[in-house]
Amino acid sequence: MAIRVGVIGTGAIGQDHIRRFSQALSGAVVTAVSDIDDVRARKVAKDIGGRAAATGRELIAADDVDAVVVTSIGSTHEEYVLAAIAAGKTVFCEKPLATTAAACKRIIDAEVKHGKRLVQVGFMRRYDAGYRMLKNAVTTGRIGTPLMAHCAHRNPAVGDNYTTDMAITDTVIHEIDVMRWLLDDEYVSAQIIYPKKTSKASSHLADPQIVLLETSSGARIDVEVFVNAVYGYDIQCELVGETGIARLPEPSNVLMRSQGQLGVEILTDWKQRFIGAYDVELQDWINAVTAGKATGPSSWDGYAAAVTADACVKAQITGKIVEIKLGEKPALYR
Ligand SMILES: NC(=O)c1ccc[n+]([C@@H]2O[C@H](COP(=O)([O-])OP(=O)(O)OC[C@H]3O[C@@H](n4cnc5c(N)ncnc54)[C@H](O)[C@@H]3O)[C@@H](O)[C@H]2O)c1
Repeated sequence: MAIRVGVIGTGAIGQDHIRRFSQALSGAVVTAVSDIDDVRARKVAKDIGGRAAATGRELIAADDVDAVVVTSIGSTHEEYVLAAIAAGKTVFCEKPLATTAAACKRIIDAEVKHGKRLVQVGFMRRYDAGYRMLKNAVTTGRIGTPLMAHCAHRNPAVGDNYTTDMAITDTVIHEIDVMRWLLDDEYVSAQIIYPKKTSKASSHLADPQIVLLETSSGARIDVEVFVNAVYGYDIQCELVGETGIARLPEPSNVLMRSQGQLGVEILTDWKQRFIGAYDVELQDWINAVTAGKATGPSSWDGYAAAVTADACVKAQITGKIVEIKLGEKPALYR
């Protein structure tokens, strides 16, 4: 029987995930939705033949909801994830798990007390076919021990409300998670370097930035984050190992001979780049819920990302190398 899913937050990604559950994935049906914007929730509910719950908390407690998806704004995630744990329901929470490391720790404590993993965090890059090939190159030993990684995260442009710290908390947060997963290692320090600023960035935004991360085994990761790069949405990652190099494949696209040129179109929309990964991620979650356990990126991964992002933001402000300390990983996540 299909699991009955309740979705809290019917904004952009919430509606996108609801479409996935309804049209692309199998084994789940969205029975209830909720949003602080009541009109929006009722419209989405009508479109899918479900119901609009009065509040997120009512949705979590409801008998017609087996598992919860949290796609509301980041500042609301802690409350809803804690309520889902208290109700003993599996919950998929879009990134960030919570907006502070302390809030992520409260979620970990609640889940550990519950005694079973219930939470999966929406770090979808782990489900991208290219990143999975990179992971395979590492785990099969084909490039030897990884020593360095060179990454780039480029967007064509950002709105005027995008601030310097958001380059970390909204953008590099994905590299922070996926590089930990690729290298199977924790970070010990972060540093930020500011290259020459692009004239395309607003006056309050430092763009581009270079984020330097060091892991406990001594591997070094550099991430160029450049959110007004104009030409397209471009994600690059190259791992340098002791015996070889592995590079993230380019998204597949038509090879064109046209107007005297041979070329491939560059993506401009991030949604297109990871569209397949979201499908795999949520199907994996449905399968895990059906099997009675959460298996994907955990609360610990959400916490590790939050601690690392905090260190990066501190490094932005101080210009110093900032130490990253996670503390003891609970047995539940080992
Ligand atoms: N994994 C990814 O790549 C990815 C991509 C996009 C967004 N996200 C994350 O998903 C979340 C939502 O992003 P979005 O782009 O859909 O934003 P959005 O602004 O389009 O939608 C957020 C929705 O939350 C609702 N909301 C606000 N307060 C609420 C509350 N207290 N209770 C219930 N609903 C509430 C808003 O009314 C809105 O409909 C964010 O945390 C964002 O970081 C992740």
